[in-house]
Amino acid sequence: MGGRPLLNRRLEGLGTTIFAEMSALAAETGAINLGQGFPDTDGPESVREAAVRALRDGRGNQYPPGPGVPELREAIADHQRRFYGIDLDPDTEVLVTAGATEAIAATMLALLEPGDEVIAFEPYYDSYAACIAMAGARRVPLTLRAPSFRPDLDELRAKITPKTRLLLLNTPHNPTGMVLTLEELSAIAGLAVEHNLLVVTDEVYEHLVFEGAHHPIAALPGMRERTVSISSAGKTFSFTGWKVGWATASPPLIAAVRTAKQYLTFVSAGPLQYAIAEALCLPDTYFDTFREDLHRKRDLLADGLRTAGFEVYTPQGTYFLTTDITPLGEKDAYNFCRSLPTRCGVVAVPNSVFYDDPEQGHSQVRFTFCKKDDILHEAARQLRHLAA
Ligand SMILES: Cc1ncc(COP(=O)(O)O)c(C=O)c1O
Repeated sequence: MGGRPLLNRRLEGLGTTIFAEMSALAAETGAINLGQGFPDTDGPESVREAAVRALRDGRGNQYPPGPGVPELREAIADHQRRFYGIDLDPDTEVLVTAGATEAIAATMLALLEPGDEVIAFEPYYDSYAACIAMAGARRVPLTLRAPSFRPDLDELRAKITPKTRLLLLNTPHNPTGMVLTLEELSAIAGLAVEHNLLVVTDEVYEHLVFEGAHHPIAALPGMRERTVSISSAGKTFSFTGWKVGWATASPPLIAAVRTAKQYLTFVSAGPLQYAIAEALCLPDTYFDTFREDLHRKRDLLADGLRTAGFEVYTPQGTYFLTTDITPLGEKDAYNFCRSLPTRCGVVAVPNSVFYDDPEQGHSQVRFTFCKKDDILHEAARQLRHLAA
């Protein structure tokens, strides 16, 4: 085709995601995959049955309504009221999407103009950089630094310029496990109001907080009209393959996001939407048990990694934990992760790829603990070879 590269400039450098690369390595070597965040146990039987029923009864087998089936939109609104006291109109303030991924993409494409600046925590969940780039905007990292990974709010203030349009938050934060406190959220909300900024908050791990509590920034004063909140059934109900997510916001924001969303997928996962409507109504015991289970797994893997010689940054939330490999005499997280499957039969992900400046995370490696206990025990056992 001559001279000009096929991939446009906006997507240059965004290549294959690290998850695809490391999961392929896991498949090739038969290693235990603690890289990509997907559980090895499916979610509740009753929810799977609800999906089967919907398929059999012909509910959602044809294009569902663009904003999502009414049952799911109502269940999402009920869930926000039940857990956070936020009142939403299911018709105008809730939008069902193809996972949180589509909600993030549609939100960025809808709200950003080329040249706008988006301040986002670094290390980033990888789709943020891609979506900001696709919208022609510029990402401005606010680096979360080990060991606490707390955001420096003075630094945040200093990064706001007349071009700043949007703050992109993620709490609980992947990959560090940092959970924003109410004080931090209030300070961030204050800055958003003062500078008239939009806030997009990715809360897919809202039900996985082990220390403290999850606070949605949308509930804080002055935030309702400027916040798009994003979540997903994938993580909370262990159905990551279903890709049922949602955005909630004030009617004008949802109308904007819906405009972009309708030209991305239009609709998705019809029958599964009915099943997730039921999942969101599960009793508190489901959510409590899910969290307690993952809390225990966090401690199990953290102990194993410490014994193997890693420095472990204990996460307050999510199902990931970040480690530092320096005590193992290692320097380069990417090379370490490439060799780990053959050395120890375990796959992990280098955090360096989640930074604009890879130097920042050069010795950090992320492991997921959303796996069966015996798998976590076995991974810990195999990783002990590193200490030998
Ligand atoms: C922070 C964060 N946001 C969004 C997603 C994607 O969610 P979904 O699978 O619902 O698209 C993930 C998945 O790993 C994530 O970690």
